[in-house]
Amino acid sequence: MQAPAILVRDLHKSYPSIEAVRGIDFEVARGEVFGLLGPNGAGKTTTVEILEGYRERTAGIVSVLGHDPGQRPRTLRERVGIVLQGGGVYRHVTVRELLDHWAHLYPAPRDVDEVIELAGLGGKQHERTRSLSGGQRRRLDFALALVGDPELIFLDEPTTGFDPAARRAAWQTVRTLAELGKTVLLTTHYLDEAQALCDRVAIMKDGRILTIGAPAELGVGALYRVVWRDAETGEVQSRETEDPTGLLHQLTSAALARGEPLRDITVARPSLEDVYLDLTEEPSAAASQEVRDG
Ligand SMILES: Nc1ncnc2c1ncn2[C@@H]1O[C@H](COP(=O)(O)OP(=O)(O)OP(=O)(O)O)[C@@H](O)[C@H]1O
Ligand SMILES: [Mg+2]
Repeated sequence: MQAPAILVRDLHKSYPSIEAVRGIDFEVARGEVFGLLGPNGAGKTTTVEILEGYRERTAGIVSVLGHDPGQRPRTLRERVGIVLQGGGVYRHVTVRELLDHWAHLYPAPRDVDEVIELAGLGGKQHERTRSLSGGQRRRLDFALALVGDPELIFLDEPTTGFDPAARRAAWQTVRTLAELGKTVLLTTHYLDEAQALCDRVAIMKDGRILTIGAPAELGVGALYRVVWRDAETGEVQSRETEDPTGLLHQLTSAALARGEPLRDITVARPSLEDVYLDLTEEPSAAASQEVRDG
């Protein structure tokens, strides 16, 4: 079996005031799109930047494409593409100049025009980067991560600040990368994004992984939730059950007997968002409210 693209064993990271990562384990297979989810301060960026070789770990084993990123091997720099959460680019050069420059750092870069198109920067290539809007700057970060044609791409909140169309375009880019067999590790606060893109996700909180699995499978094994509007009171009712067959039979036969439609009925397993909120919710946490524009 091929070695995984990323392997993390009992990883710890302490800052002076907090242990941000408290013993996490996961693997990302080659060609997999893997998502790290979790509230602000969960330890996602810390984990990703350790894998990128930008931060030193306190303890644990980390392997990226078979190398220890802590040693900053040159080969990793050539094989890995990165979108940092903070972004940050040279402000006085144009989009085109920056990408041309960046492409030269890699042994086999992608065509710069193609990358400009992929990132949706078509009309912007001769503008100075400082005059780009926030979302356009994020697209430029994305372009910088792609231009070296890396086999592994780290995307830390790649679509934060994107308008809806730009987000969909970025999703398409990630899918294209996946089709090309690239490995992608991304963080996001958008659970629809995780659901749409990720083969597997890990949900983190307070430096620990709470659960890990395919988005569609995380809720499996949980109870079905049946929601309907009560015909007499007009109120929305809900019940959780292992098997909704009996309840549905009851509800539909009662509605048929009354000759009325059954209003607002849904039968669902918990969505990724339900699972996420269930696992990460705590009464005191206001932090999960301010997830946008991170
Ligand atoms: N350079 C640093 N020095 C000290 N503490 C830090 C540093 N970077 C992060 N932390 C702390 O470590 C914890 C985890 O931060 P991290 O940036 O990894 O979270 P995150 O999951 O990426 O959050 P977000 O969703 O807000 O981006 C936080 O409590 C943060 O305050
Ligand atoms: Mg972060």
